Amino acid sequence: MRLHVADHPLITHKLTVLRDQRTSSPVFRQLTEELVTLLAYEATRNVRVAPIEIQTPVTTTTGVRIDEPRPLVVPILRAGLGMLEGMVKLIPTAEVGFLGMVRDHETLEPSTYAERLPDDLSDRQCFVLDPMLATGGSLGAAIEFLFQRGAQDVTAICILGAPEGVAAIEKQVDGRDVTLVLGALDERLNEKGYIVPGLGDAGDRLYGTV
Ligand code: PRP
Ligand code: URA
Repeated sequence: MRLHVADHPLITHKLTVLRDQRTSSPVFRQLTEELVTLLAYEATRNVRVAPIEIQTPVTTTTGVRIDEPRPLVVPILRAGLGMLEGMVKLIPTAEVGFLGMVRDHETLEPSTYAERLPDDLSDRQCFVLDPMLATGGSLGAAIEFLFQRGAQDVTAICILGAPEGVAAIEKQVDGRDVTLVLGALDERLNEKGYIVPGLGDAGDRLYGTV
């Protein structure tokens, strides 16, 4: 597994505001979107492109376009939905699949309540979006879903990760082609499975308590 942890003052600045408990939902949503776009820059470093020829007003030249089959972006509901717009802004031609997952507050085990993915993901570059990588249960289950459909190339973008979650994903992917891009790698999980220092419950902060 390749791990990339962002190291940029603009990202740290936006993360600081995101973490602050006084930050309102509208600002939290806006910052989440902006952070994803910045992280997506790194996460799409190996996106497949095909050469094309174009005509500028001055001459003919070569460039590239995003190659077929189109990349698949998969937000993990609910909180991952807050990252979708920031990602598709950068790759407007991407297709979008959905996975709904919730982790049990007591056991911290994830369960899947929704799934809308293409049947065959072989040859598709997949980008999974989930703001929080805590125990790694939810992201691990999502990655497993994609591999079972034939995916071979999965990149996950998380705003924050805990060392426990990174270790869990590393163990699970076991040499398969997975890249993990984090906005920051935090200190640890607390006894309730929350990331410390973290930002609290990402879904609640984006959408309120439901
Ligand atoms: C949060 C978060 C991740 C998961 C991370 O979702 O968005 O999906 O927890 O925890 P894990 O690494 O221990 O699995 P939650 O289950 O709270 O659902 P929500 O997105 O609907 O709020
Ligand atoms: N899910 C969240 O939303 N926040 C955490 O800190 C851990 C899991």
